[in-house]
Amino acid sequence: MDMPRYERIWMNIGIGSLIIFLIILGILAFGMGIHPPDSLEQTANPETIDIYPPFDQPGVYQTGPNEYEVIMTSFIFSYEPREIRVPLGAKIHFKATSKDVVHGLYVPNTNINLMLVPGHVTEYTYTFDEPGEHLFLCHEYCGTGHQLMQGRIIVYD
Ligand code: CUA
Repeated sequence: MDMPRYERIWMNIGIGSLIIFLIILGILAFGMGIHPPDSLEQTANPETIDIYPPFDQPGVYQTGPNEYEVIMTSFIFSYEPREIRVPLGAKIHFKATSKDVVHGLYVPNTNINLMLVPGHVTEYTYTFDEPGEHLFLCHEYCGTGHQLMQGRIIVYD
């Protein structure tokens, strides 16, 4: 039984792309060690946050020539630190968690919009490209003092 030529061509293209797809999938899964993000997520036990690094010493730390890390804890109804000073144009890596209930970390007019969940470490990297002062606040309702939960980021030149 003879298939028409064009059908065979299309069938070969179909099988060919399936094989290519499987090879790429295989390389991604095994060759590069890529796993679902969940397995890489760091955890932080809310009960021992104050004892173990990095959250025992919240603050702003320089980690490279133009890189900083902000270690932050949140709790009803505040943050530590509440004032963050970082230089303009630096890569700022936020590492934050909560000591009690779910809080938010929202910086208006930026892409910083994080959920801080007890037991989990939320990470986000951001670069401020203008000097000035930003308010940051909690945007997850967390109780009677929710609207008091805020701080500021000062971006200096
Ligand atoms: Cu913390 Cu709302």
